[in-house]
Amino acid sequence: MMSGKLANSVQGPAKAGILGWPVTHSRSPLIHGYWLKMHNLEGSYEKLLASPEDFQDVVMGLMEAGYAGANVTVPHKEAAYALADVVDPSASRLSAANLLVFKEGEIHAANTDGYGFLQSLHEGAEDTNIEKKWLSKPAALLGAGGASRAIIGALVDAGVPELRISNRTMEKIESLGFLCEGTQTKMTAVPWNDRAAMLDGCGLLVNTTTLGMSGQPSLDISLDKLPDFAAVVDIVYAPLETSLLKVAAQKGLRTVDGLGMLLHQAAPSFAAWFGVTPEVTPELRQLVINNLEEKS
Ligand code: ATR
Repeated sequence: MMSGKLANSVQGPAKAGILGWPVTHSRSPLIHGYWLKMHNLEGSYEKLLASPEDFQDVVMGLMEAGYAGANVTVPHKEAAYALADVVDPSASRLSAANLLVFKEGEIHAANTDGYGFLQSLHEGAEDTNIEKKWLSKPAALLGAGGASRAIIGALVDAGVPELRISNRTMEKIESLGFLCEGTQTKMTAVPWNDRAAMLDGCGLLVNTTTLGMSGQPSLDISLDKLPDFAAVVDIVYAPLETSLLKVAAQKGLRTVDGLGMLLHQAAPSFAAWFGVTPEVTPELRQLVINNLEEKS
């Protein structure tokens, strides 16, 4: 993980932002703005719109303008990784970066998404025993897009013995095989029509698809096969309580929403640019929930 030591030494308040295409709905400025205020820092964090064609020029422009760095979101995470001069193992293992730090004319890249995911899981567990139990059983994952990579990496790090991945397009699962190679985690590809059956004996179900997101079709899956100690995680956070989480809660299963991952992945970025490790507080969580509700 990158630390405050990498913070830029440019004179004046540190500047950072989020690079995306589109970037209008990003909550990152709200999160970093809250921390800047809390820590009485003069820095800034803004939305930075960059098309795929312009991505490299925009990044170089930010570096020349004295920015401390930037976060990177869809669709630029692979391009950010490819552009970096120095790559942290958190990014190289996924071939994707969500954090850029500019230091002495070089671009440093890292990926904090997996860290954010594990922290949110930790927060969602009542005690460490239940968390250990979730992670000691096979985990079921829905989706094999960009968002699934960091989650797979995190679950491998957490020592999960088996990952059962189901995706509408089977070939995409095979392309993720490298993430488990040489690890203790066995990857099993499951046809989309068998997604409910794969939940048998699993400690975790994680949705990494876009299904259930506002404006998208809902996720249709029976949770009957999940053991009663299992946790259901949705990385979608708009809406905060997806229909998947609603059904899971009704069945008495533990649930973890996607907001925790968003908040926790932001903290190491803030530390890298502004030199202070911020806290994910209930007040910050509420601030983002209020914003999500206003905009929905
Ligand atoms: P990314 O940019 O992260 O790769 P994406 O390609 O839009 O995002 O897809 C995210 C995930 O949601 C993928 O796993 C995708 O399944 P496919 O790989 O088959 O495209 C899944 N997804 C999106 N819409 C879906 C739908 N209607 N039914 C099933 N899965 C869906």
